[in-house]
Amino acid sequence: MKDLLRTEHLSRADVELLLDTAADFAQSPLRSHTALHNKSVAIYMTKPSTRTRLASETAVAHLGGTPIFIRGDELQLGRGETIADTAKIISGYCDALIVRTFAQSDIDELGAHASIPVINGLSDDDHPTQLLADWLTIRENFGADITGRKFVYLGDGNNMSHAWLIMGAIMGAHVVTATPDGEWAPDAAVVSKARAIARTSGATIEVTNDPESAARGASVLYTDVWMSMGDPEAERAKKTKALEPFAITKELMSLTEKDSIFMHCLPAHRGEEVSGFVIDGPKSVIWREAFHRRTTIQALLYHLTRGEIKGN
Ligand code: CP
Ligand code: NVA
Repeated sequence: MKDLLRTEHLSRADVELLLDTAADFAQSPLRSHTALHNKSVAIYMTKPSTRTRLASETAVAHLGGTPIFIRGDELQLGRGETIADTAKIISGYCDALIVRTFAQSDIDELGAHASIPVINGLSDDDHPTQLLADWLTIRENFGADITGRKFVYLGDGNNMSHAWLIMGAIMGAHVVTATPDGEWAPDAAVVSKARAIARTSGATIEVTNDPESAARGASVLYTDVWMSMGDPEAERAKKTKALEPFAITKELMSLTEKDSIFMHCLPAHRGEEVSGFVIDGPKSVIWREAFHRRTTIQALLYHLTRGEIKGN
């Protein structure tokens, strides 16, 4: 597989390889410090980023390469040059491209026309690199055997909820999303895709609108912001009201397993999707999870540029 455009393209073996290598990079960040020697990686983003941008730039630097960061308004793409032409031009200079933007179809199109690996650094529909960091953090906490464990996402049925369902399906996990019905539920097509993957991986996919039953006996409670980048500001009041029952509070956390953890892709809004008590409390693993954004992107760049990700 040339690119990582969508979480669903990864096989379980790919994920295991990436997590193993990322764990090595966590121990010794510079162990492959010449892998991208004399190579450049373009990082193109039309939305803001703290973690994905810095994790990507430092990952490239740790592999001995040069990161080139490009803001959305800096390319001729914004003035009508086509995605296909842009992909071909970047392929002539760089050895990989990491892209964060709105439409998933734009990332797919860049991948189709670029001859170099293209990595999805977040779209409106997916966030594959985040899930690699999440699953490395999960593995560090619970080990490889996840039998009987329940992994629960609560909140908006957005890009994170999609990636959560798909990666959980790939990993053979019991994954749950608890979201409002309707407008803010995960896309039906993503839920069917997760169920299709689950039929071969042995995963269980549960989609509910009941936060308490979801949280009961969970090993992980995960959440994300209620207003994603690009969400219409006019929806805020209505959306906040619909999402309030899914906020991760001390009470909801108390329904989980004894060894449960709290996860969040960040940025977080304390007092909205999660209480300060939970996110800054002893069950929270957010700093390790954020740290692994770098180790996992480093592993992804390492293996993709060597043609070692097989896909499914
Ligand atoms: N979690 C995440 O993708 O963070 P950034 O938006 O800061 O990159
Ligand atoms: N759902 C959020 C994730 C940020 C990492 C967004 O798209 O803004």
